[in-house]
Amino acid sequence: MIRAIRLGASVNRVLNDYGLKDKALIGRGAFSLVYDGGKASVYKLTVDGYSYGLMKNATGRHFPKIRRDYGIVGEIAINNIQHHLYLMKMERLQKLQAGGNARLQAMTITQSVSKYVRLSLAIQMIEHDKTFPKSILQALWQVQQYQVFSQENVLDMHMANFMQRESGTLIITDPLLDRPVWRARVDEERRKYGNADTPALIA
Ligand SMILES: Nc1ncnc2c1ncn2[C@@H]1O[C@H](COP(=O)(O)OP(=O)(O)O)[C@@H](O)[C@H]1O
Ligand SMILES: [Mg+2]
Repeated sequence: MIRAIRLGASVNRVLNDYGLKDKALIGRGAFSLVYDGGKASVYKLTVDGYSYGLMKNATGRHFPKIRRDYGIVGEIAINNIQHHLYLMKMERLQKLQAGGNARLQAMTITQSVSKYVRLSLAIQMIEHDKTFPKSILQALWQVQQYQVFSQENVLDMHMANFMQRESGTLIITDPLLDRPVWRARVDEERRKYGNADTPALIA
């Protein structure tokens, strides 16, 4: 586990500039801060350029709807290396509902990825199940295309990186990690706390 991203001086400046300081922090991960953006929206401030780029380019109903793209809004030092901070206003999503279809679909995907390691093979194995929604397979192929576009990312398909709409539709939120950012976070954790789990590297 990598600890949640820290709120340093550079992040505070961005929060001030974009009026996020007064908004409620509703989610926090190792790479992102998520702020309340009203009833149907959130602001996501992230250092993970890969998920940001994928969200901008992906199409179809299994990715979050982007309400506004602010682009690069600042910089953050991770393990003494500067990285960009990206900001988006996006659709507000819900956690996967226990016993719901979206949760079962996310489990099928994450289990296939851990078993077959390569995303392309994992998707092909899921395709054998003719009842699995074609629209989700299409979304997964988009992630796969984006992943092979460059070696500079890590596949990060675990259950916490899937969410759902109120309607129950599965949403893929951040399936890839920017590899240099991830590396810097892991090195920083190791330097400061002596250890950090690392996700399996998948080419
Ligand atoms: N669109 C969203 N709507 C509501 N909550 C969200 C949304 N995106 C992320 N979150 C919340 O913020 C937390 C961190 O987001 P995540 O995308 O997983 O960040 P990281 O890039 O650090 O992995 C998630 O666990 C989730 O609870
Ligand atoms: Mg995540």
